[in-house]
Amino acid sequence: MELKSAPTRGRTLDHAAFVYDTIEPILLLGKQAEYDRHLLSLLDPAVSDRILDLGCGTGVLTRMIADQLDAAENGECVGIDAAAKMIIVARKKRATDTCRFEVMAAEALDFEDTSFDAVVSSLFFHHVQMDLKQKALVEAYRVLKPGGRLVIADMHTPTTWMGGLVSHVSRWFFMQPQIGENIRGVLPEVIAAAGFMPPEIVATYFGYITVFNTRKPKA
Ligand SMILES: C[S@@+](CC[C@H](N)C(=O)[O-])C[C@H]1O[C@@H](n2cnc3c(N)ncnc32)[C@H](O)[C@@H]1O
Repeated sequence: MELKSAPTRGRTLDHAAFVYDTIEPILLLGKQAEYDRHLLSLLDPAVSDRILDLGCGTGVLTRMIADQLDAAENGECVGIDAAAKMIIVARKKRATDTCRFEVMAAEALDFEDTSFDAVVSSLFFHHVQMDLKQKALVEAYRVLKPGGRLVIADMHTPTTWMGGLVSHVSRWFFMQPQIGENIRGVLPEVIAAAGFMPPEIVATYFGYITVFNTRKPKA
């Protein structure tokens, strides 16, 4: 049966799925492995953790996380993406007994409350408009256990001249107002408004990607 993309107003990348693994290392200036390893180190997974990757694309980060987990201990990393073609590529190249991929919109997660130890997301939030950013974070909060970790790496207020150039050119070239929201710096406020502890900025990459680290409060 044909896998169908999930309904969403977000900017999905079905059209780029089959070239994404070639393009992304270039966009991340050859630092993709370092960048992904950094996100992994922030998650610091236990082998039995259940971890959710929002807007996983072809699942490179999902798989890196999943390789730290143990299926015998119920460890699992689940990557979700609204674009069916991304999930087809991810399943074909990266699914294992600890690595699963599902077509799903981040703003309408089909998971039980408090069913994950950590949620991660890389370069997804600049693909959705403000109300969907809010809904996706409320959903992330809902599916996380109390004390669960949230790590987000995404476009944010640029920190260098070059980062500003890349951000503003992307916003206009891709005609993507969702990027404009990120550049204005909305993410920390939206993360906190969903109920998370105020996010800490732990790193910036290339002057336009910021890494946020936070948690769902314990009680
Ligand atoms: C730039 S890619 C990032 C992929 C991957 N996380 C990475 O770091 O390479 C953004 C992804 O978000 C997905 N996406 C867009 N809107 C979405 C939504 N509402 N729910 C889930 N995924 C969505 C797109 O299909 C795309 O695969």
